[in-house]
Amino acid sequence: MKQQSILIVDDDKMTRQTLSLALSDDYEIFTAGDGISALQVLKEQEIDLVLSDLDMPIMSGIELLEKINDLEERYPVIFITGQGTIETAVKAMKMGAFDYVSKPVNLERLELLIAKTFEHKQLKEENILLKKKIQESYPELKFIGTSDAMKKCEELALQVASSKATVLIEGESGTGKELITNIIHYNSPVAHGPFIKVNCSAFAEGVLESELFGHEKGAFTGAVTAKKGRFELADGGTLFLDEVGEMPASIQVKLLRFLQEKTFERVGGSKTHHVDVRIISATNKDLNQLMKEGKFRDDLYYRLRVVKIDMPPLRDRKGDLEELVSSFIGKFSSMHGKPIQGISSEAMDLIRTYNWPGNVRELMNCIESSVVMVRGDILTVENIPEYLAYKVPDVELNSKEGLLNELERTAIQDTIISTRGDKVKAAKILGIGLRTLYRKIDKWNLEE
Ligand SMILES: Nc1ncnc2c1ncn2[C@@H]1O[C@H](COP(=O)(O)OP(=O)(O)OP(=O)(O)O)[C@@H](O)[C@H]1O
Ligand SMILES: [Mg+2]
Repeated sequence: MKQQSILIVDDDKMTRQTLSLALSDDYEIFTAGDGISALQVLKEQEIDLVLSDLDMPIMSGIELLEKINDLEERYPVIFITGQGTIETAVKAMKMGAFDYVSKPVNLERLELLIAKTFEHKQLKEENILLKKKIQESYPELKFIGTSDAMKKCEELALQVASSKATVLIEGESGTGKELITNIIHYNSPVAHGPFIKVNCSAFAEGVLESELFGHEKGAFTGAVTAKKGRFELADGGTLFLDEVGEMPASIQVKLLRFLQEKTFERVGGSKTHHVDVRIISATNKDLNQLMKEGKFRDDLYYRLRVVKIDMPPLRDRKGDLEELVSSFIGKFSSMHGKPIQGISSEAMDLIRTYNWPGNVRELMNCIESSVVMVRGDILTVENIPEYLAYKVPDVELNSKEGLLNELERTAIQDTIISTRGDKVKAAKILGIGLRTLYRKIDKWNLEE
């Protein structure tokens, strides 16, 4: 841990030296002979505590405290008081000073007091951290953006929330499918019931089945005890099936039966379980396409989409960009402790021209990294990721062929960026073979 530092302020050189000497074993010590130079030290050094005389010429201890209170950072202040100044010391305490000691200073007492002050300060900081953590672990329950498309989604969500209807949410990656699911659950009559999420693409087929429906003891090697599945855990609440397009056929059958009869059996079990669960599922795949390919059951699809919500891609509601950007700047500047005021109009122009294949998540990451990088208090073109700044060359746009090439090139580039370089995923999204993708990457030198 970093050594704590103390600024000693006293007009008397002897007192400064004695205190420095006494405290320098345990703390890093800075000194100042008057209030003005004390404020200068606070500006230049990282100080954890101020120990100041109350009765000083030039600037009194009280005046110094007033100035310290005006600073952005909070410092604990301990005063040293002479005989006749106890009343002033009490006044200082009322103004926020941490404590005071009287002259002649009892060093042992002073050291104890300092230790206590630091302990208090640490507790306070831990408290702030905890509060932040609690805030983060509560899901956000609001859409940012007032475009018609966004408002329609929000209205629909609130409307279906009051029912128990099964909901299917379709939309590209990062468009807010999970966010809208949270909104539905926490505005529903079962908001206080369990809210269980399963990502269907995260498990192998056999594992997914027992995750969802549970298993009996001895159902398979390794099933030492019986285990409840997520359907049972979600009884009386909501079950969110994310990436439902990835669900293997055998499990699709079981899910279909649940939707029809509200019943299922655990893996390896014969007892029929009955639970009361609202199902919300989400996918970034085109389920119609999967049905055509025979990978997703039609009958299941129609059961899942009693209510269907389509999350619009960000490029189709660019009117929301301004609001999203300013809200993310606010969020990340407070998270990273940076006093960012806004964004330059040039940078905002670039954000408007880009087409955001990774949608709101990509925008959020972009703003967070810009906030981390920026030195001043305005985000500028220099701070935002370079790929946004790519300009379509004018010459090529003169011919139709050039334009098509350019569109293809940007589409591929954007997709690779949004999959963070995962070419297999990129090829899938683009609907081309992996080999074709590599050829195009070579052709345009997209590797870096
Ligand atoms: N309209 C919005 N307003 C505010 N935040 C949003 C909005 N849409 C999405 N977000 C935020 O963007 C991030 C990505 O959203 P979310 O996880 O809901 O996307 P998703 O559609 O589930 O993506 P994926 O398909 O990749 O799982 C989240 O942090 C979410 O809070
Ligand atoms: Mg998601």
